[in-house]
Amino acid sequence: MTLNVIPKPNTVEFYGGEVWLSENKVTYKTNEHYPDEYYCIEITDGETIITTKGEKGRYYAHLTLTQIEESGKAPVCKIIDLPAFSYRGFMIDSARHMQTIDEIKAYITAAARFKFNTFHWHLCDDQGWRIESEKYPRLNEIGSWRYGHGFGNPNMSKYGGYYTKEEIKEIIEFCRERYIDVIPEIDMPGHTSAIIASYPELSCRGKQIGVEMQGGIYKNILCAGNEDVFSFCFGILDEVMEIFPGEYIHIGGDEAPKARWCNCQKCQNRIKEEGLKNEEELQGYFANRIISYLEAKGKKALAWNESLNSGMLNNNTIICDWMDRKHKSEEYANNGGKIIVEDFYHYYLDYEYGMTPLKKTYGLNPWLPELDYIGRQNVLGVEAPIWTEYVEDFDRMSYMCFPRLIAVAESGWTLDKYKDYEDFKARVRNQRSFLESLGIKMADESAWDPGLSVKAKVMSDRLKSILDPAMIGATLFPNKDDE
Ligand code: ACM
Ligand code: ZN
Repeated sequence: MTLNVIPKPNTVEFYGGEVWLSENKVTYKTNEHYPDEYYCIEITDGETIITTKGEKGRYYAHLTLTQIEESGKAPVCKIIDLPAFSYRGFMIDSARHMQTIDEIKAYITAAARFKFNTFHWHLCDDQGWRIESEKYPRLNEIGSWRYGHGFGNPNMSKYGGYYTKEEIKEIIEFCRERYIDVIPEIDMPGHTSAIIASYPELSCRGKQIGVEMQGGIYKNILCAGNEDVFSFCFGILDEVMEIFPGEYIHIGGDEAPKARWCNCQKCQNRIKEEGLKNEEELQGYFANRIISYLEAKGKKALAWNESLNSGMLNNNTIICDWMDRKHKSEEYANNGGKIIVEDFYHYYLDYEYGMTPLKKTYGLNPWLPELDYIGRQNVLGVEAPIWTEYVEDFDRMSYMCFPRLIAVAESGWTLDKYKDYEDFKARVRNQRSFLESLGIKMADESAWDPGLSVKAKVMSDRLKSILDPAMIGATLFPNKDDE
């Protein structure tokens, strides 16, 4: 017997019999020794007793009770529940395509129901800057717009915009009410074409470029030899910290090609002056300066796993492990560093179900095989990103994320040994009407675990798109016009 609840509670004892929860008296008890997110619910004939440390545990207890109540009578039982992981995140890329504030709220509402507790908001990238800035107005005048919608969409001439500080604060408050922390990401030194389009002097060559319109990895990155770049980064982080009150800031660090740094006198001078071995260490130097700045303000940094490549990253940094064939993230965790699992092959929700079926997403044990006993203690949790190069509207986002996001929710909360895919699917089916009430159209069940023919088609479409001359141009030679 299981409860019709997602994520599945970790322990339930059934005593036989059923009651209507609406007829039960609710009693709250507290136990100061319990962890914040822990809750115990005893459902008896006549009384529902909820014991927690405080409000947060009560909130999770009620999320569980709401789902039980939706399925009719409740079994007489005792639920003792505590999340497997303290970090349960969802990431939205609002840089490549923006969502409306109402769409973001709908997504957050759904995520909250499944006990996610962190919203990682990817707010700037090569294709757009999305935060209102008073200090650096050109970020909004120039960096927030691209001319030609891009990503293969020929239909729109100008695309973009940004979220005002008031809108961002509204989202932060909406999350706070649901015990969700918001972590903004300011990606640097790479993925910064929108910044450089606004302030070309921050790049190595100082040349004017445009906000990009295709996916890919771009060579124009922030110059690590120029002090003005650090002043800019500190300045924008100050402004971001005024809006986002949380403890954590994500500083990106992914996909930063070193071609410009290799040919830049300022970058090369910096390498010499600081006694660095190469450009990879220069990225380590760059990241550590940013992290020290944040630490001095009482903040902690998250960064994508490429930031480990320098071998000298400040070891208080939380590493987001997305694509790490050499398993540096696991090594980092085995040596005491904190990591979050966001594996590309399982948790990247922008890839077709043919490549990443629901069963595969569900099946990942966040205790990755390369982790030892210590390493496992250092997995803070899980996160599922939705990158939006090819996710232009909320219907597409809903289809790609639901139900796979719900699978990640269960892996973040329920110990792997209690997970059961068939049972999970049965519980997911019951979520459709709730999601629809939010305007979220979950993918049909026929899409969740495609057969071989669909998988083959997805693979062949991918191959075709990789071989498409326009795509080759965009991904391999993104800056070919300014070589
Ligand atoms: C990433 O997907 N570049 C973090
Ligand atoms: Zn440079």
